[in-house]
Amino acid sequence: MQDVILTGDRPTGKLHVGHYVGSLKRRVQMQDSGKYDKIYIMIADAQALTDNADDVNKVRNNISNVALDYLACGLNPSKATIFIQSQIPELCELSFYYMNLVTVSRLQRNPTVKSEIQMRGFKQSIPTGFFCYPISQAADITAFKANLVPVGEDQLPMIEQTREIVRSFNTLYKEVLVEPEAVLPSNAMCCRLPGLDGAAKMSKSLGNCIYLADSANEIKKKVQSMFTDPTHLRIEDPGHTENNAVFTYLDAFCRDEHFAAFLPAYANLDELKAHYRRGGLGDGTVKKFLTEILQAELSPIREKREEYAKDLGEVFNMLKCGSEKAETVAAQTLDEVKTAMGINYFKGNVF
Ligand code: TRP
Repeated sequence: MQDVILTGDRPTGKLHVGHYVGSLKRRVQMQDSGKYDKIYIMIADAQALTDNADDVNKVRNNISNVALDYLACGLNPSKATIFIQSQIPELCELSFYYMNLVTVSRLQRNPTVKSEIQMRGFKQSIPTGFFCYPISQAADITAFKANLVPVGEDQLPMIEQTREIVRSFNTLYKEVLVEPEAVLPSNAMCCRLPGLDGAAKMSKSLGNCIYLADSANEIKKKVQSMFTDPTHLRIEDPGHTENNAVFTYLDAFCRDEHFAAFLPAYANLDELKAHYRRGGLGDGTVKKFLTEILQAELSPIREKREEYAKDLGEVFNMLKCGSEKAETVAAQTLDEVKTAMGINYFKGNVF
């Protein structure tokens, strides 16, 4: 069987370094490994609208932001098909048939949807589209017969829901759909890059993110403002490196060669951490080191992003071509689905 990858992001904002270490970097590695036959990267604008129906502008404007972030990180449209979800109507059709294979109580048990409903304060006023987005996500994945879905941990319930739909469909009708598997980030640290304030997650609404588009100056200021160890008051005090955002970022970004380049007094991160724990190492030194690493890692991305941003017409064309290509594939699957169900009346399923 060939390996088909599909993944996506909701265009509700620019992408940040949490996205970068958690997923973008991995996607680019997978793309460049040449091991995968097909790679689809979807900008999930229709899913973003399930809880932003009153702010279509935000979703629309962020499509180009996300596309620029993709290109800047090294996703390459000649190797990966990058497309816009809402431009593939077949996905809605698939969702409509899959809805009959999922119970309301099953959707109510989805832990990610449950916590999102709470976070958004929907209470009893849950938009139906939002409630059903796990089904639409199953359509996204199965339309391309993706067997590998690189995602964060929070998306595991969506993959499980997709697998259940695939099994129901294949049992009830015919073996047409492919059961996907989640591909989680390999470095456990990378799954959970905290916000600048030490909060569990980077999020736009908390204003605690470093964006891929941030200027060198913004990065510097943001690192300076980062949460460290509140018990580490004076340089000579012993410090904690756990739950210390600066060290969590170093875990995610730092490599031994960064020490040689920016902080040659230490050979590696273990030595730096040991010194911090003993006492005698100030936050300023550690933050300066993190700033240099982030600048080294992010400035080529920022420069590429600025280059692509000069020609948004070209970015738009790339998305249009990708969407056309994606639609051809989704249409083929939809055709097989309708035939399997026996509702392809003008193509063989005679009544
Ligand atoms: N739910 C994903 C997110 O919030 C975005 C998404 C939509 C997705 N459809 C997908 C991810 C299909 C993987 C596969 O990030």
